[in-house]
Formats: sequence, structure tokens, C-alpha cells
Amino acid sequence: MSPITSNMFKTTTTLLCFVLAAVILMDLTSSTATDTPTPSTATETYILAKCSPAKFSPGSAYETNLNSLLSSLASSTVQSPYKNLTFPSGGVKPEPAVTVYGLFQCRGDLDQTSCSSCVSRAVALVGNTCPNAYCGFLQMENCQVRYENSSFSGVQDKTLMLNRCGQAMGFNDQDALTRIGDVIGSLGSGDGLYRTGGNGDVKGVAQCTGDLSTAQCQDCLTDAIGRLRSDCGMAQGGYVYLSKCYARFSVAGSHARQTPPYPNFGGEKDDKDDDGIGKILAIIIGFITFIILLVVFLTFLGRRCRNLQDEKWCSH
Ligand SMILES: *[C@@H]1O[C@H](CO)[C@@H](O)[C@H](O)[C@H]1NC(C)=O
Ligand SMILES: *[C@@H]1O[C@H](CO)[C@@H](O)[C@H](O)[C@H]1NC(C)=O
Repeated sequence: MSPITSNMFKTTTTLLCFVLAAVILMDLTSSTATDTPTPSTATETYILAKCSPAKFSPGSAYETNLNSLLSSLASSTVQSPYKNLTFPSGGVKPEPAVTVYGLFQCRGDLDQTSCSSCVSRAVALVGNTCPNAYCGFLQMENCQVRYENSSFSGVQDKTLMLNRCGQAMGFNDQDALTRIGDVIGSLGSGDGLYRTGGNGDVKGVAQCTGDLSTAQCQDCLTDAIGRLRSDCGMAQGGYVYLSKCYARFSVAGSHARQTPPYPNFGGEKDDKDDDGIGKILAIIIGFITFIILLVVFLTFLGRRCRNLQDEKWCSH
């Protein structure tokens, strides 16, 4: 090692140790505070948002039309769980760079009041999350709102927006795995744009946006369900959100209780000094692992973000 490299190495190590110490200290102080989990009503659970990198100029006609579209979506008397709108409306010839296309889609079985309230919430969130973006997409658990500068109505789009799996299921629980397989399968073989499935403690939902035909919906869901099965088929739940459809399932009841309980941050009063060093060591090892994972994750994210620009969403 040359002296310069060795010096740099020492500086980096010192810096890293300092950051580590600071984080551990912060962690220890904050863990004495009482964590009150924020109650979330199921209808208003936020899942994901995507905004186009391209921005319109403030004060443009596009902005005026977008604002009209969003407030009109939010105030629509919800007669059906799906609505599409174009602004300017009323037979005005669509003009590129000025016309805004949008929709909302509520979960198929949602009552009107809950649908309205979910859509209002999603409209407010997409406005805050995607300032001046040409395209915005916001998914709540029970509804979705999106807008773009070109018409996407009836256009198939299977761009992956988000997927995630719950904790792994015990391998010994063959019965539950069978029920999961059944439920995922039933979502794929159902017909219609909104589908539910259930078997014992396993529940599943799948839905397409209302602008797709039955055949397009089947095509989209085949993708989503295929991913759900291969990625999360051994997990206690999971979801796959594509641009025009999603599929998800969860396992409730006894199986959820078999998962190890989360460590109770806030309430731990019985810390013993004799295992203090072991604890700190565990925290350090955990933290280093976390940093490595973070770097890997950020690299992955960077690549995903670059890929995203090549995808169909907001570019047809
Ligand atoms: C809504 O979507 C349909 C096709 O699904 C399209 O023909 C219609 O023009 C759209 N309406 C508005 C207001 O954009
Ligand atoms: C939508 O906006 C993007 C970004 O500015 C632009 O490249 C695209 O041509 C626009 N599409 C239409 C139909 O105006």
C-alpha cells in the first residue's frame, strides 16, 4: 500500500467509525422514546407514487388544465369505481402539450363514500408528490389516480411499478402453501376486471383499471399473477403493481401469529449491563450489514431509475 492510499484508508476508517458511533448513540437515545404507531385507516393506505422526470413550466396552459382535471376528479360524484377525464373537455380538439388525460380507479367493492374519500386523498398526494410533472401516478391501497399528457385509455402497459413479499412461510406448513397456491390461481382464472379469491385464512385481490378490455386485463393479470406466484408464493403475503393492473394476497390468523414478534423498541426497560458489549457488537455488525445492503440497494435503484426512462409508462 502506498503511503497516500494508506492515509486515505485510515481517514476513511476513522470517518466511518465516527459515523457509526454517532448513529449508535442516536439509536440508543431514540429507542428510549415511546413509539406510538400512527393509526392508518385501510382506505387511505399509501402504496406508491411515480412522477415523470419531465416538467411543465409553471403558469402554462398545461398547468391550468391539470389543476382543473385534478379538482374535477376529486369532486366527481362517484357513481362508478372508475372514471376517465380529459381537459380541456367538451369536444375541444386535443392539442399536444396542452391536453391532460386522467383517471381514478377505486377497488371494485368499495362503497361510494370511501371511494370519494380515497380519491380526494390520492389527488392531494399526487399534487404534492409530483409538482410540475407531466405525468403522475399514485396508488393507494383502495384507489389509484393518474394523469398524463397523452391518452393512455385502453393502452396496455405492464410496466412494473412495485412488488414486495412478506416474510417467508414455514416450509412445514404445506397446507397453507397449498391454500396460497389456490388463491393465486383463482385470481388468474377468474374473469372480469375485479377479482377476489379466498381459501381459509388466505385472501387475494386482483384488479385492472377500467379502461382495459377483458382480454387486455387477462393479459396484464397473467403477468402480475405470474410474478406474484414466482416471487411470493412461499411468503405470508405479497403484491405486484403493474401500470394497469395489480394482484395481491395476505395470510391472516394463526399463521400471522407464528411469525416472530417485532422487537419492542419503546418499551424495553429490562436492559442488563452484563450483555451490553454483546449488544453493541450486534448493533455494529447489524449496521455494517445495513450499509452494505444500502449500497447494493442504491446501485440497484439507480439502475432501475435509468431503466424506467426506457419503459412505456408516460412515454407512449
Ligand atoms: C374514456 O375512455 C374511453 C375509452 O376507454 C375513451 O373513448 C373516452 O374518450 C375517454 N373519455 C375521456 C373523457 O377521456
Ligand atoms: C409529453 O411530455 C413529454 C415531456 O415533455 C414529451 O416528450 C411528449 O412529447 C409529450 N407528449 C405529448 C403528446 O405532448
